[in-house]
Amino acid sequence: MTPPQIKDFHRIVFFTGAGMSAESGIPTYRGQGGVWSQYNWEDYACQDAFERDPEKVWDFHDTRRRAVAACAPNPGHLAVAAVQRDRPATVVITQNIDGLHQLAGASSVIELHGSLWRVRCDAEGTIHDDRSAPIAARRCGCGAYLRPDIVWFGDALDPANMRRAIAALAGCDLLVSVGTSGVVYPAADLPRRAMKGGAVTVEINLEDTPVSDLYQHRLRGKASEMLASMMA
Ligand code: OAD
Repeated sequence: MTPPQIKDFHRIVFFTGAGMSAESGIPTYRGQGGVWSQYNWEDYACQDAFERDPEKVWDFHDTRRRAVAACAPNPGHLAVAAVQRDRPATVVITQNIDGLHQLAGASSVIELHGSLWRVRCDAEGTIHDDRSAPIAARRCGCGAYLRPDIVWFGDALDPANMRRAIAALAGCDLLVSVGTSGVVYPAADLPRRAMKGGAVTVEINLEDTPVSDLYQHRLRGKASEMLASMMA
């Protein structure tokens, strides 16, 4: 069966996860070689861990900053950015913290889980961009530690981001979910908004996920290749 073609839609939402960046050389979180198979998130990706041992948590994030800084957007990211240029109502909702959608040229990107490239003062809450890798300073001018502006386990998602994501999903005519395992909530629940709104729904993944049955079209293969098949 021919996959739905991007040219037939105008209000498109791409909902992306770690599989989107796998072809750039960034490991996914789950499965063989995944980040959480090598590191316990309880020790590296939650506020409690940070309060226990901020230097250890920063060492982990510096390792990730260095690794991601060496990676470039892949043809899948470039395809998504090209769709957005061609159809300005297109919205990218990503769970990724790597910034590769933006590096590829995407402009409207909702970063549900924050960014590796922003830091927040743990005392004052002030946020700023910082692309140094490793990070130039682990402390704010006020003396408190900076922490990555990432939604760690147990953190709440930014309500403004959630509102924007829900509005985009409720009004879209095509939802393309790319490379997410669909097991991390509340993000995993968001695609249902598009389904309720009557959008055509496509899941791109190497394999079935716990939410595959919700999608009308399931494309199995690499993100860049499956996206290309929707632009044939
Ligand atoms: P996961 O690692 O849970 O899932 C990645 C998915 O991508 C899996 O379903 C793979 O089968 C699929 N995949 C891998 N390579 C692919 C490729 N080349 N093409 C297409 N699909 C591919 O990553 P996420 O679902 O993004 O949170 O994880 C959700 C959240 O859990 C992340 O945002 C992260 C993590 O804890 C934070 O960083 C806060």
